[in-house]
Amino acid sequence: MAIIKVHDKEFTPYLTEEEINEQVTRIAFEINRDYQGRKPLFIAILNGSFIFAADLFKKLNIEAEIAFIKLASYKGVKSTGKVITAIGLDAELYGRDVIIIEDIVDTGKTLSQFLPQLEHHNPSSLKIAALLHKPDAIVHPIKIDYLGFTIPNKFVIGYGLDYDGLGRNIKEIYQLV
Ligand code: IMP
Repeated sequence: MAIIKVHDKEFTPYLTEEEINEQVTRIAFEINRDYQGRKPLFIAILNGSFIFAADLFKKLNIEAEIAFIKLASYKGVKSTGKVITAIGLDAELYGRDVIIIEDIVDTGKTLSQFLPQLEHHNPSSLKIAALLHKPDAIVHPIKIDYLGFTIPNKFVIGYGLDYDGLGRNIKEIYQLV
């Protein structure tokens, strides 16, 4: 694997397909073990998590459902900050064991705003599965229950993650040079 160029920036290989697959397999093992007989509902956050969600979901051997949502952020009329809303969340969450699937937790801002909205629906449990976490970037601490990799505070692409729309189809994860 060599350096690649996406738009104006150069990226260097960081995680191989095999390393990613190993961690996704481990997370699936833990979820299979923890959710036996409970029929969890997975909520995958688009766009970035679609490949991680598909690979993880294929490795589950328990009964499970999956829903896909998009988070849109807009400036509220009265609030000064951005408001995050979920588009496409039509599943009934009340009394369900919910597991959020996220590609990466960076500052934690997205999930810190979105989780309280989900808790409002009274799921019986709410857990987070994230492939990547950048602890040095965190502003809003999030408890990640199932984590693939802790990574340095550098921009990454591949395996679903993009730089300005490109790079999602790269099988490995690359890091900004
Ligand atoms: P947060 O709200 O700062 O935790 O950001 C979460 C979202 O930002 C992720 O779901 C990604 O879509 C995006 N993001 C954060 N860091 C990266 C990165 O290194 N590469 C690509 N997307 C990223």
